[in-house]
Amino acid sequence: MNTTLWTVDSTGDLSTNYPQITQAAQLLQHNETVAFPTETVYGLGANAKSTDAVAKIYEAKGRPSDNPLIVHIADTEQLKEFAKIDSAQAETLMEQFWPGPLTLVLPCKEGVLSTRVTAGLDTVAVRMPDHPVALELIKRAGVPVAAPSANISGKPSPTKAEHVVHDLNGRIAGIVDGGPTGVGVESTVVSCTGGIPVILRPGGVTKEQLEQAVGPVMIDQGITDEKKAPISPGMKYTHYAPEAPLAIVKGSSEDIQRLIEQYQKDGMKVGVLTTEERAGAYQADAVRICGTRDRLETVAAGLYDALRSFDGEDLGFIFAESFPEEGVGRAIMNRLLKAAGHRVIEA
Ligand code: TXA
Ligand code: MG
Repeated sequence: MNTTLWTVDSTGDLSTNYPQITQAAQLLQHNETVAFPTETVYGLGANAKSTDAVAKIYEAKGRPSDNPLIVHIADTEQLKEFAKIDSAQAETLMEQFWPGPLTLVLPCKEGVLSTRVTAGLDTVAVRMPDHPVALELIKRAGVPVAAPSANISGKPSPTKAEHVVHDLNGRIAGIVDGGPTGVGVESTVVSCTGGIPVILRPGGVTKEQLEQAVGPVMIDQGITDEKKAPISPGMKYTHYAPEAPLAIVKGSSEDIQRLIEQYQKDGMKVGVLTTEERAGAYQADAVRICGTRDRLETVAAGLYDALRSFDGEDLGFIFAESFPEEGVGRAIMNRLLKAAGHRVIEA
């Protein structure tokens, strides 16, 4: 398949002209797949009402069919067609955080969306992305857009168009390049089907922010306790992993440097995932900086690009620094733990 690549300067006034966005929207209307930028990561979009279209997403990504998709909308009117809002918390969260990196799992109305979107569940995950290109594309397509992250299943999510090209060129109809995404980790997924809201996946909106808006919020035990099954089907899969095995080290940079040297002695090339503050402490075969510890948002923004950049370095092992599990640090550690297959070294 020939993949069309469009470039859009997302700082312009997108409501006028921009034939690239119209062309991409037309492909969505014709039930083809198009990758586009959101404020979190690039998504791989398709018409959520068409089983034909949605099947192409699963096929292109190699995604297990029991893992449901997030439906992206451009305005809340669109939502009422296929989802029910029967909790006051859902209303408040939508008002406060949309457009933005928050996905709400709501009761689904029957017969509107393809059942492949929800993988047969009676709930649907919905979000309104905070990105001008995404919003304009969905508006012009005139349909709700199902979109998982635009990576091959299991790989780190794409935060730049070149990551999408690397994974999916020739497998999808088009890619809209709107520059690097801002948040860098995916949206927070919150179940809002009555009772206390439950975080099914930590992400761009923090637990602290959610609680400020609606009071107590729980975290699904299945995402922190390896022995429990997560509620969200997608959270059980290994994800975000670079080619070389990775371990998180809870310890100082000296501890990590010692580990690097130990592994190098065995003739292995070793990489380290670090931050501005500590990068100077390492002598490794590949040193990658994902941001500064002072501002964990920068670590989130740079994490996937850094993880991807280890590939092709022929490394035998990668050590990653550990981050505090507060604010967006919860999402960072959740993704790192998955990338590490839960290997943690207490140094
Ligand atoms: O930031 C994001 O959320 C990005 C951008 C493209 O919007 N999308 C994204 O989609 O991360 P994906 O498919 O990679 O992750 C969707 C997650 C999966 O863990 C899936 O299992 C969960 O949402 N999910 C979808 N529908 C669900 C439902 N009805 N109930 C529980 N979990 C659901
Ligand atoms: Mg994904």
